[in-house]
Amino acid sequence: DHTAVGCQASVATKYMETDDIVDLDWENLGFGLVDTDFMYMAKCGPDGNFSNGEILPFGPIALSPSAGVLNYGQGLFEGLKAYRKTDGYILLFRPEENAVRMKNGSDRMCMPAPSVEQFVDAVKQTVLANKRWVPPTGKGSLYIRPLLIGSGAILGLAPAPEYTFLIYVSPVGNYFKEGLAPINLIIEDNFHRAAPGGTGGVKTIGNYASVLKAQRTAKEKGYSDVLYLDAVHNKYLEEVSSCNIFVVKGNAISTPAIEGTILPGITRKSIIEVAESKGYKVEERHVSVDELLDADEVFCTGTAVVVSPVGSITYKGKSSSAFQGRVRWQPRSRRGLTAAIHLADKPPDGPHRGSDG
Ligand code: COI
Repeated sequence: DHTAVGCQASVATKYMETDDIVDLDWENLGFGLVDTDFMYMAKCGPDGNFSNGEILPFGPIALSPSAGVLNYGQGLFEGLKAYRKTDGYILLFRPEENAVRMKNGSDRMCMPAPSVEQFVDAVKQTVLANKRWVPPTGKGSLYIRPLLIGSGAILGLAPAPEYTFLIYVSPVGNYFKEGLAPINLIIEDNFHRAAPGGTGGVKTIGNYASVLKAQRTAKEKGYSDVLYLDAVHNKYLEEVSSCNIFVVKGNAISTPAIEGTILPGITRKSIIEVAESKGYKVEERHVSVDELLDADEVFCTGTAVVVSPVGSITYKGKSSSAFQGRVRWQPRSRRGLTAAIHLADKPPDGPHRGSDG
């Protein structure tokens, strides 16, 4: 739980009136948008200062067709989660980390960013305004999506004259349809997600649009998602479309180093802390495809995916079982590290969970 990973709970809002929870099919919550009641919005003009922000009814926003974000992709997003605990508190997972990451990204994208205090306060306000949408304990979480966009009209290529900081939320369950069962990845060696000097290390919206084509092709072939390789050598692991990757070999856990082309995931950082505290040797470095294919266990981390064990990898037309002669990751994943590290208080007992989930 959050205490076990050494992370401070940042929001402690007593909310005992569980009868007020929205009536949803909590057992079958996937990762899709459920409209909630309210969203947060603050604006920032040319003076670089954000307005105080307000809670508004959730709904469409007005934008000029010439808004910077629509024409030139000047935008960032974040993702974090709120959980309902058994004791009635609603808990946020490390929101300051998201605030800092948005600030770092805003510098790369030539945008002003809300302060860490404003970001965290805005997240709290939005969650509290929508508290009836926080799933019952163990049934999922409230996904929080902050957006920072160049909303001002601009025609020539330049930073927008106005920015909007928005937050909306949606109750969510498992990201992958597999639930906590192992996912199947395909390694992409034609498309790259990011290149050195580009924007792969920040959470800009364009990074996600650029993986859609490879992801769609992979899903059409039955894979859960795509693992990208580095753009220079086409040999070292980068990240999956929506999450970071870890490779376990014996007592060592390796994950691609943060060098500007992969997202510095907050779950990634937390898992590194947990693994080190449990006596694993963690290495942040270049990890080759060969090492991946020789691993004992592979798993992905992210806010949306949480911790997902990887059951098979397909590379150059061959699946991991063909490489290894056996699928060795799945059994260990179910009992090993990924099963031990659950970021939620209690694993949801949804339809995709196994008995040891
Ligand atoms: C998250 O995990 O919060 C992300 O932002 C990934 C997104 C593609 C769902």
